[in-house]
Amino acid sequence: MPLILDGKALSESIRVEISSYVERITSKGYREPSLAVILVGDDPASHIYVKNKRKACERVGIRSLFFHLPQNTTTPELLDLIASLNSDENVDGILVQLPLPTHISQQEIILSVSPKKDVDGFHPENMGKLVARIEGGFIPCTPLGIDLLLKHYGIDPKGKDVVIVGAGFIVGRPLALLMLWRDATVCVCHIHTKDISIYTKKADILISATGVPHLIKEDMVKEGAVVIDVGISKLDNKVTGDVDFERVKDKVYAITPVPGGVGPMTVTALLLNTLQAYKQNMDLKDESF
Ligand code: GUN
Repeated sequence: MPLILDGKALSESIRVEISSYVERITSKGYREPSLAVILVGDDPASHIYVKNKRKACERVGIRSLFFHLPQNTTTPELLDLIASLNSDENVDGILVQLPLPTHISQQEIILSVSPKKDVDGFHPENMGKLVARIEGGFIPCTPLGIDLLLKHYGIDPKGKDVVIVGAGFIVGRPLALLMLWRDATVCVCHIHTKDISIYTKKADILISATGVPHLIKEDMVKEGAVVIDVGISKLDNKVTGDVDFERVKDKVYAITPVPGGVGPMTVTALLLNTLQAYKQNMDLKDESF
């Protein structure tokens, strides 16, 4: 039997700690941490993600402010909202759910969020800190969640061959930088890679973030590897990941389930980033959590 990397259980225990930190700090008279969540349009998947994030905030005592804007919102209108949240000292974190409608400039929006409130870690200032290994920046939530999960199970990427399938802006690329920070040898496969199996077979730690159900088959995975599945999609009406879990699981040392693996860790990482933003905003350096 492989080791199941239980993101749901780890998330729950971290959220209990966050909750008791918030209780402790608010009982001293400080206001609660707050996160502004912006959703533009009516993409059903985005609605579900945002609902989960807000629910998770409220359960640990983080106030969530929700801004649901219509599909036809313009870039200047969205920029105005972000500017007002940037200057509101009672707002610690700002999250603009992606993808945005195509008529809005994603790049302009990402650049407009104050790096101090950028709990997604998407602003170039925070991405730059990840490149330069500068502590104190925000690390994007899914990479941070995976890092915490590996750490919890005593899996150290140092000196390992880490292969990432998927080079997206939200997961693959920042994760490659984080794994480099952890001293792994990193290989990133993407849509133009001729044959991903050449690389996946060599991976000590294989991380797939493509959203292609069952892309990773048994013969593409090394015996004893650690497999992290970031994908979440539907196959035959069942929630499934990028990895053919049932066939791959008996071959590996450890594997994340879908659901219950990376997904909850991403949301927990968002809560941790919001707490970090709060502590920096309120100058609560000495308050350990
Ligand atoms: N869409 C999919 N994943 C994410 C994420 O981590 N943050 C934001 N803002 N949008 C997303």
